[in-house]
Amino acid sequence: MGALNINVFNPVRIHFGNGFISEAGKIAKKYSDTALIVTGKTSMQKSGTLGRLVKILKDAGVNPVIYDKITPNPTIDEIDEAARIAKEKRVGLIIGLGGGSPLDSSKAIAVAAKGNIPVWDYLKTPATEALPVITIVSTSGTGSEVNRYSVMTNPKTKEKPGFGYECMYPKEAIIDPEIMASMPPYVTAATGFDVFVHVLEAFTGKARNAFSSAYCMQTFYLLKDNLIKAYNEPNNLEIRGNMALASALAGLAIDLSGVGIIHALEHPVSGNYPNVAHGAGLAALVVESMKYNLEACKRDFMLIAHHLGVKRAGKTDDEYAYSLIEKIEEMLKAINLNIRLKDLGVEKDRLPGMAKEAFATMGFAAQNNPETVDEKEALKLLEASY
Ligand code: NZQ
Ligand code: MN
Repeated sequence: MGALNINVFNPVRIHFGNGFISEAGKIAKKYSDTALIVTGKTSMQKSGTLGRLVKILKDAGVNPVIYDKITPNPTIDEIDEAARIAKEKRVGLIIGLGGGSPLDSSKAIAVAAKGNIPVWDYLKTPATEALPVITIVSTSGTGSEVNRYSVMTNPKTKEKPGFGYECMYPKEAIIDPEIMASMPPYVTAATGFDVFVHVLEAFTGKARNAFSSAYCMQTFYLLKDNLIKAYNEPNNLEIRGNMALASALAGLAIDLSGVGIIHALEHPVSGNYPNVAHGAGLAALVVESMKYNLEACKRDFMLIAHHLGVKRAGKTDDEYAYSLIEKIEEMLKAINLNIRLKDLGVEKDRLPGMAKEAFATMGFAAQNNPETVDEKEALKLLEASY
C-alpha cells in the first residue's frame, strides 16, 4: 500500500465534547492576554456563540478583539485587513470561530500578522512563524479545525489555492457539537458531503498511507450512520457529535495524504463563483470523477462500499465496485445535493478556463489522483458534470 516514505506529524491538541467552549478562556490564556476572534458575518452572532465566547474570554482575563467580516470562500483582502488589525492591536493569539472559511482565515492571518508581505505572497515564500491559533469549529466539513491548510481566494484573478506550512497548525482545537446544531440543512449537507470526499480522496490517492487509511476507515463508518441523519435530525447532538468526529478524522487524513481531482476541479468552481458552497461544488463533480477513477480504484471502492453498508449479494467485483457510485448518488439524493454544475450557476464557456486553473492552483491535488489526469481529461469531467 501507498508510498514507502511516510512522514506523520500533527501537533494539534484536540478537545472534544458538548459545552467545551466554556474552557476557551482558560485555553486562550495559556497563549496571550489579547486575542483576535476571526469569524463570519452572521451565524455565530445569531446563534449567540460569539457573544458567549467574548464573555468566556473576558472572564478568563483575555481581551477579545473581533474581526467578523470573513465571507464564505474567504478573500485575501479580508485576510490582509484582519492581519493589519492583529498587528495594530498587538494581539498574541488568533481564535478562529466558525466554519472552514473563518478557520482557514485564522491560520492565514496568523502568518500574515507575523510578517511584512501580503498573504498571497506566502504561496511562494514559505512561512516559518505564525501567531498561535485556536480553532472553534461550527461546521462538520472541512477538517480545517485540525489541519494546517488554509484556502483563500484572490478576487481579482478568481484563483483559489490552498497552502499550509508547519507553523500553521492550530495549537488547540475545540470541537463542541452544540455549536453545530444551528447549521441549516443545506450547510449540514454540503459540509457533511465534504467529509466524504476528503476520505474518498485520501483513501484512494497516490499519497495514501496506513495512518491516513486508519482515519478514513473510521470516518466511513461514521458517515454511514450519521450523514443523512444529521440532515434530517439537526438537533440530535449525538449525531452532530459523530459528524464532528468524522470531520476531524477526515481533516487529519487529508493533512497526511491530500485530496484528488474532485477537489482540484472544485476550487476553480467556488473560486469563480464565491456563492457556491465548497461541498455543493464537490457534489456536482463526484459522480463523473468516481467513474473516471473506477478502474484504478476497484478494490478500494469495494472496500468503501462495504464500509458504507452496501450488500455484496451476488455482485461481481466490477459490479460491487460500481455499486459505490450508486450508493453515493443515493446519498446525495437523500441530502438534496444531487446536482450538476449548471444548477450552481456555472457558465459553460468558463469550463475550459476552470480546467486550466485546476492544474495551475491545485496541481498537487490533481497529481495525487489515483488515475492520471491531464487538462483535456479534466475538461471532459467538467463537461460531463455540467
Ligand atoms: O457567513 P457565516 O456567518 O460564517 O455563516 C456560515 C456560512 O454562511 C454558515 N455557518 C457556519 N457554521 C454555522 C453556520 N450557520 C449556522 N450555524 C452554524 N453552526 O455556513 C456558511 C458556510 O460556512 P463556511 O465556513 O464557508 O463553510 P465550510 O465549513 O464548508 O468551509 C468552506 C471553506 O473551507 C475550504 C473551502 O474551500 C472553503 O473556502 N476548505 C478548507 C479545507 C482545509 N482547511 O483543509 C479543505 C476543504 O477541502 C476546503 O477546501
Ligand atoms: Mn473539501
